[in-house]
Amino acid sequence: MTAALPNSVGGLVLAAGKGTRMHSAKPKVLHELLDEPMLWHVHQALEPLLAHRFWTVLGFGADQVCKRLPEVTARCVLQHEQLGTGHALQCAWETLRAASLTHVLVVNGDTPLVPPQALSKMVHVALEEKAAVAFLSITLNDPRSFGRVVRSCNGDVAAIVEAKDYDRTRFGYPTGEINAGIYLLQLDAVGPLLGQLGNNNRSGEYYITDLVGLAKAAGHVVLAENVSAEGMDPEDAILYLGINAPAELVAAEEHMRRCIVTRWAAENVLIRSPDLVRIGPRVQLTPGAEIHGPCELYGQTTLARGALVMSHCWVKDATLESDTTLHPFSHVERAHLHSGAAAGPFARLRPGAVLEQGSRVGNFVEMKKARLGRNAKAGHLTYLGDAEIGPDTNIGAGTITCNYDGARKHLTKIGENVFIGSNTALVAPVHVGDRALVAAGSVITDDVPADALALARGRQVLKSKKPAS
Ligand code: UD1
Ligand code: CA
Repeated sequence: MTAALPNSVGGLVLAAGKGTRMHSAKPKVLHELLDEPMLWHVHQALEPLLAHRFWTVLGFGADQVCKRLPEVTARCVLQHEQLGTGHALQCAWETLRAASLTHVLVVNGDTPLVPPQALSKMVHVALEEKAAVAFLSITLNDPRSFGRVVRSCNGDVAAIVEAKDYDRTRFGYPTGEINAGIYLLQLDAVGPLLGQLGNNNRSGEYYITDLVGLAKAAGHVVLAENVSAEGMDPEDAILYLGINAPAELVAAEEHMRRCIVTRWAAENVLIRSPDLVRIGPRVQLTPGAEIHGPCELYGQTTLARGALVMSHCWVKDATLESDTTLHPFSHVERAHLHSGAAAGPFARLRPGAVLEQGSRVGNFVEMKKARLGRNAKAGHLTYLGDAEIGPDTNIGAGTITCNYDGARKHLTKIGENVFIGSNTALVAPVHVGDRALVAAGSVITDDVPADALALARGRQVLKSKKPAS
């Protein structure tokens, strides 16, 4: 657990850019890693340090971002035209000043893997050194398209020069030290420099990175906290690299996926084919739960001890209590399986599906806003929508609750110990009483009282075949 930063430090996430290199209509920060938007991950890194003391600069697709992450709405600043990272900071400046902060931790919104510990360390070093501008740097073999750190002969940071603007004759062969896009700025020192940012560069943008050279020229302390300096595992470099293109998103997601799966395996969750299992960061597992890859578990899914998710399942925001089973190829969202319940193979449990203790649904059964009572069964080819089904009831193959009249949804209520014969259509609203029996092939439009036998189908007619002529 990372300790919180002092109250005088606030945060700013730069997330207004389009992300042209993603070649997508969706704002880059909404692209997901393990089903959570990139921006959500960045916020997760900031929260333990700053609680809610941070703002997000939005611009391209701001409405979409606020819709997907409503919590951002109250703490966002708009950058109507995206004129660069320096301009994004300028847009947020009034808000930051009004918050009586001494320092602001600025994080690019496309750096979802950054560990809170690294942020915290940089802030503490910068505060101790009384730096006006500090930033995280990392040394790579190939500096790619990242901003390059230029140091003077004595090793002090002199500037950050963007790849496009880097002139080897002027700055020398690049060392591989790059800017991670994470900064601690002292507001009093940086305020007067903001107006000096220009856009006379290859991109025609106002760069936040120019603050480094400007602060240096103004005689302030400037600091690069190089995370590679302490012998970092080269595999961990990815934690600090901004995501600009689809392949980088996939690589970052894969890193996160592997970390999460390894962590749960270490906590005694049995994960078979672990390379093919995707577990979201909010999922909660219990030692003794079992997962077979390939499968995906997302959102606030929880698995208790003895819960088994077999291969090819997709599960989101679901609760699987002890000794529950999801057979292969099941698709489950916002459903609750009480202990001993089972679903699938090929089950579709939609929001509001509840399987009480020991109940089971089999192949090609779809449930939505429907509750299946204790030990009740719906074995095959069935749709249960807006339905309440009592304990020990058997729903025959091909049963459909006709819940929609074209305008509104209606409830089907079925009591306990009922037997619904195969291929029954229950036209809601309708109620079938306890212990009733509905004959196969019925279309039930009226309530069936308890203990009754309901037959609602055409009578079989037998005739002799026409004699052959
Ligand atoms: C930026 C840095 C570069 C660094 C790299 C690290 C600048 C000029 N360059 O480059 O030195 O190595 O990050 O990943 O800052 N954004 C806005 N408004 C804008 C433009 C961008 O909010 O007008 C946001 C984007 O949404 C993004 C972040 O700022 O989250 C960084 O922008 P991006 O275009 O990805 O910068 P890079 O070219 O990667
Ligand atoms: Ca970037």
